Amino acid sequence: MWAAVAGVAALLATYPTAFHAVQWLGAAYLAWLGVRMLLAKPGDAPVLHIEPRHYFKQAGLITLLNPKAIVFYMAFFPLFVDPARHQGMVTFGLMAATIAVLTFLYGLTVVLLTHFLAERMRANPMIARVLEKVAGLCLLGFGVKLAVSGKPMAKIFCVANQKGGVGKTTTTVNLAAGLAKVGQRVLMVDLDPQGNATMGSGVDKRQLKMTVYDVLLESASVAEARVRSDRLVEAGCSYDVLGANRELAGAEVELVEVERREKRLKTALAEVAGDYDFVLIDCPPSLSMLTLNGLCAAHGVIVPMQCEYFALEGLSDLVNTIKQVHANLNKDTEIIGLLRVMFDPRITLQQQVSDQLKSHFGDKVFNTVIPRNVRLAEAPSYGLPGVAFDPAARGSQAFVEFAKEMVDRIEKMK
Ligand SMILES: Nc1ncnc2c1ncn2[C@@H]1O[C@H](COP(=O)(O)OP(=O)(O)OP(=O)(O)O)[C@@H](O)[C@H]1O
Ligand SMILES: [Mg+2]
Repeated sequence: MWAAVAGVAALLATYPTAFHAVQWLGAAYLAWLGVRMLLAKPGDAPVLHIEPRHYFKQAGLITLLNPKAIVFYMAFFPLFVDPARHQGMVTFGLMAATIAVLTFLYGLTVVLLTHFLAERMRANPMIARVLEKVAGLCLLGFGVKLAVSGKPMAKIFCVANQKGGVGKTTTTVNLAAGLAKVGQRVLMVDLDPQGNATMGSGVDKRQLKMTVYDVLLESASVAEARVRSDRLVEAGCSYDVLGANRELAGAEVELVEVERREKRLKTALAEVAGDYDFVLIDCPPSLSMLTLNGLCAAHGVIVPMQCEYFALEGLSDLVNTIKQVHANLNKDTEIIGLLRVMFDPRITLQQQVSDQLKSHFGDKVFNTVIPRNVRLAEAPSYGLPGVAFDPAARGSQAFVEFAKEMVDRIEKMK
């Protein structure tokens, strides 16, 4: 029976339509049970008649449907198991069996306790009726929730500023690593032919078989072109990379000829949106067709800026471009925040510009400030984001803080 269940699960995972059909069937069944419970009159036969001989079957079902309990029990294993000494099939088998037995016992306890309480309740018809209606409402609610719950879709953010060298790439790769570190699934898209974000994520741009260029020209899908660096996996903050190299500079010209040219990236990313919590796009230092593709695909724009006099001047161009994209191409996109980077509090001018930004843009300025930190500047030459290269550095810690702030913002946006 277990093999059959695993087979069906694999089938459902492969065919999303089948998965949705089963989801809808389950939702309809739960809602139907709920409605029958709500409409039941005193003296009717029980809607769900469960006999003691079904207890084991029910506990088995709970075991199967209870991934949270399994994870809970797994959390205790490091107390008893040392991965260096305990290896191989025997340990694996013992662990799997222990988890299965514990989850089953948990299910059985829940079933027995519920039935024991139900028997006691039945003695008082008034309580039994109220409970039946509450259960009916809950089942109806579960049904509706199951029907509307889909796979969560990634939030897509563009890191843009047409000024060169303001810290776009540093922000993109470190935010990606920071988000990965706090348990988010991340895809980093390099839209800059310089390929700095690719190299800074542990991926050699010269070795790439497929890049974002192939995706924009529709000769490859994101799923085919994305890669992941083993070094980031080792560092415990890994994310997928849709890389770029000099070839991408040609896309600018080649895209002029094609239709929907500014929506190419948006269309391609839609196919993998269910695989991630965040997609971060590193833009080139220009307001080109590549940047336009990034802006069209994004739900929001993160603008890294140094607190210097000229920083504010360039900002108005970017704000205008984003307004135009918002009006004509992508109603979703807006600046979600200005990020103060390479900040040095000892410099009075920086402090002044920072205050000015706060009073001008208020909530649009992120709370986190990224300090000027030499470890962040050194990390790219080792092919790693600072967060992975030196997690203890002040700059790295600031980026992990920023990642948490982003996760909070997303929660509030929902
Ligand atoms: N917080 C920081 N502290 C110290 N150095 C930094 C910091 N942020 C960025 N840098 C350094 O500043 C330089 C420019 O940063 P980065 O490449 O991220 O900018 P960019 O906006 O992506 O540039 P481009 O416009 O060329 O794409 C790099 O040498 C980087 O290492
Ligand atoms: Mg860059």
